[in-house]
Amino acid sequence: MQLDPERIPAHVAIVMDGNGRWAKQRGLPRLAGHRAGMDALKEIVKKADQMGIRHLTVYAFSTENWKRSAEEVSGIFRLLILYVDSELAELHRNNVRVSILGRWRELPAAPVKKLEKALETTKNNSGLQFHIALNYGGRDEILRAARSLSGQPPEEITEERFSAALDTAGIPDPDLLIRTSGELRLSNYLLWQCAYSEFVFTDTLWPDFSPACLEQAVLEYQGRERRFGGRKQ
Ligand code: IPE
Ligand code: IPE
Ligand code: MG
Repeated sequence: MQLDPERIPAHVAIVMDGNGRWAKQRGLPRLAGHRAGMDALKEIVKKADQMGIRHLTVYAFSTENWKRSAEEVSGIFRLLILYVDSELAELHRNNVRVSILGRWRELPAAPVKKLEKALETTKNNSGLQFHIALNYGGRDEILRAARSLSGQPPEEITEERFSAALDTAGIPDPDLLIRTSGELRLSNYLLWQCAYSEFVFTDTLWPDFSPACLEQAVLEYQGRERRFGGRKQ
């Protein structure tokens, strides 16, 4: 079966999971898995762009990931800096616009500075919108939105206004959500936004998730019938 270019999902969200297990299988430290995961991400961003996906959102660090060792957490932040250093020029050349979801400004100063540079450099780009969920939790995002609207008359708090108060304001809801590594859960990712997303779960560990795997997931998506609570046309 071939991909239908007319039905490419506008927004693909990914839970990039399985870096630790990938490393363990090879007798390597967990950070080597995160490093390999970063390399996989580089290829997936390029592929998403080539496929004509408009929005790609990746889960890079959750509000719960602080429970991990200080060594792993700081290693992930170091990799983030490395990612921006090695990829920003190419992202910019490819007209990719970077945005970040979550409480990323609470990260240590060095990654925050790097990320600000990535945002600033790409802010006028009109190609693929690449959203990185960083120190992100769906419940935290919903709470922050609720607090920001708490002074408003209740009847004025509509779904549209609530959506506009989330970190994903202006971004269409994900059409397709992919989670790698065989885990069948959301882990606090895009809870509001995934109300009608199609889910594709794969056993492939994130560092092994290739551009062909992304195509395969989109193919699976294209075989789904989306009803949004209505009836088959
Ligand atoms: C996902 O890989 C990356 C992050 C959560 C930062 P994991 O580190 O969760 O890998 P596993 O689940 O332990 O294999
Ligand atoms: C979700 O993966 C978070 C990211 C991929 C950044 P986790 O590995 O943290 O999720 P759980 O703990 O298995 O639910
Ligand atoms: Mg995991």
